[in-house]
Amino acid sequence: MCGIFAYLNYRVPRTRKEIFETLIKGLQRLEYRGYDSAGVAIDGNNNEDKERFIKLVKKRGKVKALEEELYKQDDLDSKADFETHFGIAHTRWATHGVPSAINSHPQRSDKSNEFVVIHNGIITNYKDLRKFLESKGYEFESETDTETIPKLIKYMYDNRESEDTSFSALVERVIQQLEGAFALVFKSIHYPGEAVATRRGSPLLIGVRSKYKLSTDQIPVLYRTCKLINPVTFFLRTKNVKNMCNSRLKRLDSSTCLHAVGDKAVEFFFASDASAIIEHTNRVIFLEDDDIAAVTDGKLSIHRLERSASDDPSRAIQTLQMELQQIMKGNFSAFMQKEIFEQPESVVNTMRGRVNFESSTVLLGGLKDHLKEIRRCRRLIIIGCGTSYHAAVATRQVLEELTELPVMVELASDFLDRNTPVFRDDVCFFISQSGETADTLMALRYCKERRALTVGITNTVGSSISRETDCGVHINAGPEIGVASTKAYTSQFVSLVMFGLMMSEDRISLQKRRQEIISGLKSLPEMIKEVLSLDEKIHDLALELYKQRSLLVMGRGYNYATCLEGALKIKEITYMHSEGILAGELKHGPLALIDKQMPVIMVIMKDPCFTKCQNALQQVTARQGRPIILCSKEDTESSKFAYKTIELPHTVDCLQGVLSVIPLQLLSFHLAVLRGYDVDFPRNLAKSVTVE
Ligand code: UD1
Ligand code: BG6
Repeated sequence: MCGIFAYLNYRVPRTRKEIFETLIKGLQRLEYRGYDSAGVAIDGNNNEDKERFIKLVKKRGKVKALEEELYKQDDLDSKADFETHFGIAHTRWATHGVPSAINSHPQRSDKSNEFVVIHNGIITNYKDLRKFLESKGYEFESETDTETIPKLIKYMYDNRESEDTSFSALVERVIQQLEGAFALVFKSIHYPGEAVATRRGSPLLIGVRSKYKLSTDQIPVLYRTCKLINPVTFFLRTKNVKNMCNSRLKRLDSSTCLHAVGDKAVEFFFASDASAIIEHTNRVIFLEDDDIAAVTDGKLSIHRLERSASDDPSRAIQTLQMELQQIMKGNFSAFMQKEIFEQPESVVNTMRGRVNFESSTVLLGGLKDHLKEIRRCRRLIIIGCGTSYHAAVATRQVLEELTELPVMVELASDFLDRNTPVFRDDVCFFISQSGETADTLMALRYCKERRALTVGITNTVGSSISRETDCGVHINAGPEIGVASTKAYTSQFVSLVMFGLMMSEDRISLQKRRQEIISGLKSLPEMIKEVLSLDEKIHDLALELYKQRSLLVMGRGYNYATCLEGALKIKEITYMHSEGILAGELKHGPLALIDKQMPVIMVIMKDPCFTKCQNALQQVTARQGRPIILCSKEDTESSKFAYKTIELPHTVDCLQGVLSVIPLQLLSFHLAVLRGYDVDFPRNLAKSVTVE
C-alpha cells in the first residue's frame, strides 16, 4: 500500500542534501509495501531567502528514480542549510488513476503549492467534494481522490474567519468533510516549519528525537509549567524525565516539557509504518483515529476532532523494541503470512464505497455504465490462470444463480489452445492479481478481436489488463508480495460476488437471496478473524503432516474451488504433491489412492452438497482413510468419522469458500516453514508470469 514519511527538524541544522537523504531513506524503508511512484515536497527557497515556496518532485517508478530526479533539480542548492525545515514524502500504490507523476503524492492545492498533502487510504466521497470545489473555481489536475484534500484546505484557508486561524484548525475542518479511510500529513507555505498530521482508519505514528536533558534546577520550572499549561497530556516514559520527576508528575505534556526546559533542538518523524522511523528514534507516539497532531515552534500537541471531544487525548510515548527486519513484516515471518492475516481488512477495502449495507445495494463504479450491455449478453466467460482461475471456479455457481446467464470458466492457456469460439454478444472477464499475466492478456486480446465486451478484475491500477479491458473492477486488496496469492484470491472472490449482486438488483425473485448474501458479506471480516484464530491448531496439524509426500484435498459444490486452491498453495510453497479432488469424482478414480497412510483433507460444509459429501466421507473411511475434516462448527455428524476436525464459522453457502480456503492457506504456510523452504519465493515460480 502507499507509504507516508515526513521529517521536521527544529533547531537542528541540516543541509538540503541531508534532508533529501533522510526523506529518501524513509521511503526506501517503506518500499517493501509495494508502490508504483513516489514524490517529495520540500522548501524550495534557501533559508535566508524572503520569498518562500514549496518545491514538488514526483516520479513514476522506483524511489531510486525519484532520488536521481531530486539531484537533477538545478534550482535546489543541495548545500543550503536549514535550521528548521519540514519535508514530506510518499510512495503511492495507485487506486485512483494510473501511476504517473501527476497522480503521485504530494498532491497540491494550486499551482503555487500553497498547501501540499500526502495521503494513505481512500476518500470515498471525493467525487462530491471535487464537484463542490470545482463549482468554487478550483482546478484539478490529477485523477486522484487525494487532490480534493489540498484543494479543500485551501478553500478553508481562503474562507477563514480570522488571520490567526491555526494550521491544525484548518485540518480539523477538512477532515470533518472527509469520508473513507486516511492518514494525512500537511505542509504549507503559510505555516513555515509547521506540520499537521491526522488519521482515520489508516495507521500513522510520530517518532520524536530530542536532545534535552534535565538538570536539577530545571525541575521546578518544568513542574510549574506543566501544572499551568496542560492542553494535552502524555505519559512520559523517557528515562530522564521519569527518574527526575516525583510520582505526582507522571502525567505531563511532552511539548510543555520541551518548552519548559528551553527551546531545545528536536526532530519529528512521521510515518505510516514504524520501519521508517526506528533507525532515527525508538520513541514514538501512535496516533488514534481523529487525532490531529500539530508541530508548531518545535512543540508537538495533539487534540481530538471536535465531535470526539469527550475522548481522552492522552497518548503514550512508547518505546519501540523491535528490530528493523522484524518491523518490515510486522509480527510475521513472511509476507505471505502477513497477507493471510490482512484478509479481514483487505476484504473490507474491496467492498469499501461499493456495498451499501443499509440499502442492500451494490455499486461497482467501473461497471455501472456497461451494466445494460452485460445484462443483454449471451454468456459470461471468466478467464484467468492459477489462483485467479480458482476465484472464477469459486463464484461460478452464484454468478449463474444471480445473473441467470450461462457462465464458462476458462484457464487462459487452454482457452487459447482451443481457439474457443467467442462472439460479440459475449462478455469476457479477465481475472488477474498482477494484471500482467501473459496468457490472460493474450486471451483478452483474442476476445477483443472478436468484439466481445471485455471486463477486468485486477489488483493493479494501470496494469496492462486494467488498461486494455473495456471496463472492470479494481479489487483494492493492496499489494501482494508473497508469490503464493492469498488475499488477492479472497478479494477477487468478493468482487465477483458483488458483480452478481449488482446484476440481480431488480430481480424480485432474487431479493431474499441477495439480502442473505449481503448480510454474509457484512459479517465476513469478523468471521475471517475467527478462522485466523485457529492458526495454532493448524500449526499443530502441520507438525503431523510436514514429512508426508502427498496430500489430497476433497470437496464439492461451492467448496470445490477451495480444494483446488488449497492444493495449489500446498504445491507452490511446500513442494509436496497435492491434488484438489472433486468429491463427486471419487469413485471414478481417486478412491484408488485412499488407504491408512494417505493424508486426506475433506471440506464438508452445511450447504446443499452436505449429504453427498457425507457419502464421500463414508467411502473414504470404509477404505481405512483417516480424513481431516474442515467442517461447520455446528456439524456434529462429520466429526464422528474424522481423524481430526477444523471447525469453521458458518456463513451463507456461496461465501463459505472465502472462509474455508484460509485454513489451507495457513496449513501450506506452516508446512513450508517446517520443511525449511522460503515461503515468499518458492523455487521455479514468479509472482508475475509475463511470458506465455
Ligand atoms: C473509483 C476510483 C476509486 C474511488 C471510487 C469512488 C480509480 C482507479 N478508482 O473506483 O479510487 O474510491 O471511484 O467513486 O480511480 N477498469 C478497467 N479494467 C479493470 C479494472 C478497472 O477498465 O481491470 C476501469 C473501470 O471500468 C473504471 C476504472 O477502471 O472505469 C476504475 O475502476 P475501479 O477502481 O474499480 O472503479 P471504482 O470502484 O468506481
Ligand atoms: C503465477 C503466480 O503463476 O500467476 C500464481 O505464481 C498466480 O500465484 C498466477 O495465481 C496468476 O497471476 P495473476 O497475477 O494473473 O493473478
